[in-house]
Amino acid sequence: MALVEFRDVTKVFDVTPTKDNRRVRTLTVLDHVNLDIEQGEIFGLIGYSGAGKSTLVRLVNALTPVTSGSIKVGDVEVTTLKEHALQELRRGIGMVFQQFNLLNSRTVAGNVAYPLAVAGVKRAERDARVAELLSFVGLTDKAHAYPDQLSGGQKQRVGIARALANHPTLLLADEATSALDPETTQEVLALLRRVNAEFGTTIIVITHEMEVIRSTAHRVAVLDEGRIVEQGEVFEVFSRPQSPVTARFVATVIAPPPSGDALAALHAQHPTATLVTLRFDDTATDQTHVYRRFFDAQVTFELVAGGIEAIGAHRFAQLTLALTADNPDALADIPSLVGAGVDVEVHA
Ligand SMILES: Nc1ncnc2c1ncn2[C@@H]1O[C@H](COP(=O)(O)OP(=O)(O)OP(=O)(O)O)[C@@H](O)[C@H]1O
Ligand SMILES: [Mg+2]
Repeated sequence: MALVEFRDVTKVFDVTPTKDNRRVRTLTVLDHVNLDIEQGEIFGLIGYSGAGKSTLVRLVNALTPVTSGSIKVGDVEVTTLKEHALQELRRGIGMVFQQFNLLNSRTVAGNVAYPLAVAGVKRAERDARVAELLSFVGLTDKAHAYPDQLSGGQKQRVGIARALANHPTLLLADEATSALDPETTQEVLALLRRVNAEFGTTIIVITHEMEVIRSTAHRVAVLDEGRIVEQGEVFEVFSRPQSPVTARFVATVIAPPPSGDALAALHAQHPTATLVTLRFDDTATDQTHVYRRFFDAQVTFELVAGGIEAIGAHRFAQLTLALTADNPDALADIPSLVGAGVDVEVHA
């Protein structure tokens, strides 16, 4: 069941005119966006800076009003909610921010207690909940510390504990790891995965880093200049990107096949060989099968570039091979030689 549903959502900002340009300009930041985010999943939204990601998440809890279209959270249409109902909606949605947004004058425990106090939770219950949350994020011993005594990773764990205080069904994480180093990023992402697995919280992860999507999300949408250009299972998108923007993101974690100088160098090193790049995904076929066919056709091969990536439960291999054969006929039809289920690119 979809927990969050966007139908034809468009957001246009009026851009304040400057002194020398008095005409009011408008900026379309989201352009007919359609999305279905399923209950219980981690949904990744990736896009370059300015693509409209933060605007999109702010529409979910109606921090920004839509220009047109419909947004549902559960069975509530959020675009027409009045103040009281809005507060109720927001109580069920946790937010985690890039800059943590902690209150520096309050202790760690005080920060986590804050949304509980706002919701009117009684003191004793509040203390118990804070203790439970700090234990969950591994910061029990920091309960009385102040934010500026914490590392970035610890601050974000406080941010996550605070976001979970009122048992949200949905967690919005807007660039939650962008201010952190790679190792701390992985710790925070592991915590988000635990939140999802243990509490069943639906999480929307906003990022400009494909690595964050790869290690965290079940499904992903690619946002480019306000449009969703691609969406699907993370593995599908990684292994078969359809749009150029997606391919650029994928290339940051899976090196593309050699081209240009790198390809020329390989040709120079293997002058008698035919260079091919094979893309295997373990849902379709296995490598052994292909190597056995090479063996049967008396084709020898050497791995010259590429790699194997784990994406969720799957493995995706993109391997460049130098193929040689005494009998040139053996290499006349490489796709047939390789067989079905493998994507083949022959490098001229
Ligand atoms: N309140 C606003 N008024 C006018 N324009 C805005 C407003 N908020 C955002 N924009 C513009 O909307 C576009 C998308 O901004 P948004 O913050 O959603 O992008 P983003 O994908 O989150 O970028 P980043 O990765 O840098 O955080 C930008 O061009 C931005 O300047
Ligand atoms: Mg943003």
